[in-house]
Amino acid sequence: MATNPHNSERRLRAGVVGVGGIAREHVKGYRAAGVDVVAICDIDPAVLEDRANAWDIPTTYLDYERMLAESELDVVSISTPVSTHHPITLAAAKAGVHVLCEKPISLDLEKAREMIEACDRAGVTLMIGHQLRSAGAVAKAKQLINEGAIGDVTFVRLRQAHDWGGLDAVRPSFATRESGGGGTLLDNGCHLMDLARHLVGDVENVYTRMATLRWPIELEDTSLVSVRFKSGALGSIENSWTATGWEEAFWVYGTRGSLEWTNRHQEPVLVHSFRESPATTWAETDVARVDFAGEAPHVRHVRAFVEAVQGQRDVACTGEDGLEAVRMVLAAYDSAHAGREVALSDASVTLSEANA
Ligand SMILES: NC(=O)c1ccc[n+]([C@@H]2O[C@H](COP(=O)([O-])OP(=O)(O)OC[C@H]3O[C@@H](n4cnc5c(N)ncnc54)[C@H](O)[C@@H]3O)[C@@H](O)[C@H]2O)c1
Repeated sequence: MATNPHNSERRLRAGVVGVGGIAREHVKGYRAAGVDVVAICDIDPAVLEDRANAWDIPTTYLDYERMLAESELDVVSISTPVSTHHPITLAAAKAGVHVLCEKPISLDLEKAREMIEACDRAGVTLMIGHQLRSAGAVAKAKQLINEGAIGDVTFVRLRQAHDWGGLDAVRPSFATRESGGGGTLLDNGCHLMDLARHLVGDVENVYTRMATLRWPIELEDTSLVSVRFKSGALGSIENSWTATGWEEAFWVYGTRGSLEWTNRHQEPVLVHSFRESPATTWAETDVARVDFAGEAPHVRHVRAFVEAVQGQRDVACTGEDGLEAVRMVLAAYDSAHAGREVALSDASVTLSEANA
């Protein structure tokens, strides 16, 4: 069983394993939530030293087992490459430490299941880093959908697209099947698979088209997944490394209204369209602009994790949610290779099987 009593009088102690690109957001999130980041770990000594200095972290480790044994952590973020999420989560569970694991949970559904079961057995929280769930626009949209503001959802269109920030090559760790596992369908798509389930519900089947159109890489840089939800609603999941700039957006249509958000809007606003006035036209509808300014999604997600550990709210994205997002990705790859619709119940159980 977990040994960490979490009461509001004691500040929680956090560790971070893997201090590359995304780890910074975890450190920011813990600090915003009033948690002390007491130790960090990385297998690269130069990166470790650089981050310890930049973030003013007192203790560093090259070995996560030692950090878990010595640092008296309450919570740990796992922000290492996906192949390491499984062993590090199992070790954290064994040490009685609550886990915030980056996405995707694992590229193997059986390993994801073991991670969930290990945390359950140890009585520790497992949350997955699909931070879009905590984004202000998504939280507002989810609230409006739950309140029935747009009626029954009929269609959802989700988009995440970028061009690697204008680099002249795909970042090396993402560019090959060996290091990245998959292309944009995996890297960006797993966030949107989770978002689709979060906003609309479980998925029955998927149909995928994907292509490599811009970069000289062996992985897809463009993908389009057509989704049928168990509710009967349809969806379109669009991912690309061939956009210009950075676009993240969703559109949700329902029987009584629609919701629209894109980061290309100047203002952080969720647009809620509906028809109440009798004299509106095709182009003009009633519109409510819903504000959601606040902290960045990653910071909100880490805060949500801390609040779940403290028993103040449910886990925002469970291990099970992370597993189902990966199942959708695997079914989507199966579909792309087979050239036909694939039911989630028939999905491959590992990415290597899906891409065999
Ligand atoms: N939620 C998001 O929006 C988001 C964004 C980017 C990355 N990610 C995810 O976060 C994870 C890390 O991605 P990144 O872009 O930060 O990668 P990165 O390569 O920049 O950093 C990973 C770090 O982990 C270290 N590492 C590798 N194996 C280790 C081990 N066994 N023990 C300790 N350290 C180890 C590496 O040395 C490296 O410094 C991936 O799962 C990725 O998909 C999520």
